[in-house]
Amino acid sequence: MAKPLSRILVIEDEPLVLREILKGLNAAARALDNPFGIAFGGVATAQAALAAIEADGDIQAVLVDDKLYTLEGASPRRSAAKTLQMSALELVQRITGLRPELNVYILIAKEQEDEVVDALFSEAVDGYFYREERDYRGIYRILNAQIQEKARTPFTDQLKNYVWMAKDQWHTPGHSSGESLRGSPWVSDFYEFMGDHVFDADLSVSVPMLDSLMEPKGVIAEAQAMAAKAFGARSTFFATNGTSSANKVIFQTLLAPGEKLLLDRNCHKSVHHGVVLSGAQPVYLDSALNRRFGLYGPVPRKSILEAIRRHPDAEALILTSCTYDGLRYDLAPIVAAAHAGGIKVIVDEAWYGFARFHPEFRPTALEAGADYATQSTHKVLSAFSQASMIHVNDPEFREHLFRENFNMHTSTSPQYALIASLDVARKQAVMEGYKLLARTLVLARELRQQISATGVFRVLELEDLLPEEVRHDGIRLDPTKVTVDVSGCGYTVDELQQELFDRYNIQIEKSTFNTITLLLSIGTTRSKVSRLYDALMRIAREKRAARRLVRTPEIPAFTKLRYLPRDAYYCGGELVPVFDDQERVNRALRGRVCADGVVPYPPGIPVLVPGQLITPAIAQYLANLLRSQKRIELHGIVQEGYQPCVRALRPAEERGLRRIG
Ligand SMILES: Cc1ncc(COP(=O)(O)O)c(C=O)c1O
Repeated sequence: MAKPLSRILVIEDEPLVLREILKGLNAAARALDNPFGIAFGGVATAQAALAAIEADGDIQAVLVDDKLYTLEGASPRRSAAKTLQMSALELVQRITGLRPELNVYILIAKEQEDEVVDALFSEAVDGYFYREERDYRGIYRILNAQIQEKARTPFTDQLKNYVWMAKDQWHTPGHSSGESLRGSPWVSDFYEFMGDHVFDADLSVSVPMLDSLMEPKGVIAEAQAMAAKAFGARSTFFATNGTSSANKVIFQTLLAPGEKLLLDRNCHKSVHHGVVLSGAQPVYLDSALNRRFGLYGPVPRKSILEAIRRHPDAEALILTSCTYDGLRYDLAPIVAAAHAGGIKVIVDEAWYGFARFHPEFRPTALEAGADYATQSTHKVLSAFSQASMIHVNDPEFREHLFRENFNMHTSTSPQYALIASLDVARKQAVMEGYKLLARTLVLARELRQQISATGVFRVLELEDLLPEEVRHDGIRLDPTKVTVDVSGCGYTVDELQQELFDRYNIQIEKSTFNTITLLLSIGTTRSKVSRLYDALMRIAREKRAARRLVRTPEIPAFTKLRYLPRDAYYCGGELVPVFDDQERVNRALRGRVCADGVVPYPPGIPVLVPGQLITPAIAQYLANLLRSQKRIELHGIVQEGYQPCVRALRPAEERGLRRIG
């Protein structure tokens, strides 16, 4: 196993003192137990410290002198005047601004103790040492213990302990550590394929030493508290059914039936499902559309602020940041406006769970003031699929209500490997997230340049992606999501995807009518980048005639919401065909109210939500999609024999519902 390296940076302006401190601390590191590879290095100025912290991802902690001076104005006739470079307070703020996961300690002189401690009281300082004491072994022990603490994975460690104890299992799950499969002539191949520990670690709430996800008081509670600290939340909850369930849990906590929610119409479908489950009254905000590429982006800031102003009775606002294509809002002013109107802000960070660990991606939603953030840790960090986190910073958080809703959406038999993987993903993000993300950023930059250098494929940069309406909204691009215009290569998107898969062994993340999207993560390697570049270059050299950009059918504007989505959804309804006997658009659809959400994928934006009025334009749009050649999923369309149908409310059902629009 690779051995960790932990550099600790000492910032001290007096060269002799610095030399002595480094000598003492490194001697202690050599003499004492050093499982994390601690080594001390030093710099004399605040600027050099910041540069080192930025450049060296192995730095785990810093030891800052409380006052850093530089000698200025020294000349043959004038003695040097001491000027303060930067106060310890400012330096600590700059360090934690850059890398909040670092431990920060202050070296102080005894006589200045009160002054320094008072100034730094509310900052992220982990402790103080008196310089005069020269207790280097003592300092080393404390720093070592702190790193050990951060690197702990309380749940995973306990899970391993239980497995190593090899208890006789008189409890669920039924495979009993794989015993039921191991000797089987029929299914032992599955056991072999998956490996022992998948089964050994598949345990259940019957084992009290592993705590309970439903009522965490032990190792799960500890692991969640460590995640909260790492991600900058007041509390964090591990979700084992993805951000899909995380969003629903929050909605059911914040919204009673009939209460208003402002939401991006382009939100993930779990958000739309959450509207049905909570009974909320949605106010849809239309996302800006990049017509050239048929990409839906963020909601214009103006529309969000306008909605906040027009709906002072709204309880909550939910936005997706960053989007699947990597566009992220300038959240702080939006959050401030929502809070001024008493509206809670939820940010779906399904694609942005790593952002806290590199300044290029910050501020995170929580740092921008959001009350809730949901993150698919599995999408962009090292957790198993379905493992997500819910971070809470709401000062009025109603934990009991949240807990009831959380438990409503959580299996009483959660997969323990998922919980362990969240614990480990947090540890990795804290210990080496900065370093890995810095590498990912370098690879993303290289890949972007290389793809565009093919002369055939073109990476879409922020200016290409941004629709006109949001150009001045401070939106930024996460460079690890790489959207490529493939219209120049001569293949259709589907053909290209197949070619990459069959001939070059490459599976991409997603596609639209004219683009493919590649997702870089902390698992991306340089050789993967080269193989992709090589594949694209070979395809480019085929010199096929370029295609024109496919014109993406534009989703019709939102129509009227007649009834609450929940009321409409729970009506039985009836199936109304999209086409009539003559294969024309069925006029009987006009003026009916939809009972389901109807969502074409891509782009995944609902054309209809439950309770929405079906207009001729919408019926026509659905008919066009159903006739289109492009392979497209149309969620919510019911196939009855050969007839594609929409579930619509019956007139009698409508009469029994309260109209809202
Ligand atoms: C914006 C957004 N939110 C939520 C989800 C659901 O996340 P999960 O797959 O973790 O359930 C997705 C999934 O693609 C998504 O794109």
